[in-house]
Amino acid sequence: IWANIKMGPPDPILGINEAFKKDSHPLKVNLGVGAFRDDNGKPKVLDCVRKAEKIISEKNLDKEYIPIVGLPQFNSEALKLAYGENSSALKEDRVAVTQTLSGTGALRIGGAFIERFLGKDTTVYVPGPTWGNHISVFKDCGLQPKEYRYYDKKTNGLDIAGLLEDLSSAKPGSVALLHGCAHNPTGVDPTFEQWKQILEVCKKNSIIPFFDVAYQGFASGDTNFDAQSLRLFVDSGVSIMLSQSFAKNMGLYGERVGTFSVVCASSEEKDRVLSQFKILIRPIYSSPPVNGARIAAEVLSNPELNKLWLTEVKGMADRIISMRSLLRKHLEEDCKSSLSWKHITDQIGMFCFTGISPEAVDRLKDEFHIYLTRNGRISMAGITTKNVRYVAESFHEVTK
Ligand code: LMR
Repeated sequence: IWANIKMGPPDPILGINEAFKKDSHPLKVNLGVGAFRDDNGKPKVLDCVRKAEKIISEKNLDKEYIPIVGLPQFNSEALKLAYGENSSALKEDRVAVTQTLSGTGALRIGGAFIERFLGKDTTVYVPGPTWGNHISVFKDCGLQPKEYRYYDKKTNGLDIAGLLEDLSSAKPGSVALLHGCAHNPTGVDPTFEQWKQILEVCKKNSIIPFFDVAYQGFASGDTNFDAQSLRLFVDSGVSIMLSQSFAKNMGLYGERVGTFSVVCASSEEKDRVLSQFKILIRPIYSSPPVNGARIAAEVLSNPELNKLWLTEVKGMADRIISMRSLLRKHLEEDCKSSLSWKHITDQIGMFCFTGISPEAVDRLKDEFHIYLTRNGRISMAGITTKNVRYVAESFHEVTK
């Protein structure tokens, strides 16, 4: 029956891990998937997570199904983190939320919600470029993703004029996917003033903002600062949607912990929206897994663990920032590259959009055993004090 099925290509991001594992070269470096590594290149489980796991295991909890929309305590803590303790939307109890299978699951439930209630013909505007999976998720939800201008190759910065123009000429009622902070893959975020301009365009043209916040805390090291774009929109009374992930900022990658939420006009509207979340989710996976949500809820609600977590998030962000400086320094001072590498330190978050061409990316893999996505994105977390010189020299070789 399956004789005619063609072999599909590997995933452009996750497929890199497979290729990397097969490479036995001692100097190999994985700059592909955005997952934090310590300075020895090892995955990191946060101390706050280990402590939370211990507390949870001592409670001897059961493994019963949790509600369709997830663990209530986790959901309310996650919302406070995103929208802020003093959010009027939260105080007025008008945010519909469901626990999701991390950020991707949140986007997928969001896409299904859009498709069902805004209609199949809804255009979902995504930044050009965006995380590759955004496009696949929305297409698989039966929606029409379309790019709005975002990254300006000439300045390695934001094309704010193009962005505003595209969103103001979009059909009213379209959705705009906005990376709340630490834009993936470019590492280029709007300034607060630019966010205000984006908000005005969305309001004026009735564009529905769909925030993807997968790196809260990773951009600046401060979870409140990184939520200011989202909070600006919500506090101005706009009905936004939000996909939230705890993969990176709590290091809960494989636990799949996230939320999807919709800010509604009233508590009564919220109840109706929430009822539809349940109807959407039940036939897909019934209810979400409990373990990761318990961990995140403990870390967020236990004052001691929360304090420890915020320090650890800042520590991860700081390590990445110091690797940016070091990589740029090696390229400019030691390799004497004639190119400008200023964007390495200008960009923020987990990634650097290097500007390295797809052909040079192939050479890095084949000749230097350095793995990155073909759009020239590198995960800064893959750089360590031990490999930074080798990475810089290799980048220099392929960009001379
Ligand atoms: C990435 O962009 O590398 C991460 O978000 C991991 C993923 O799922 O693609």
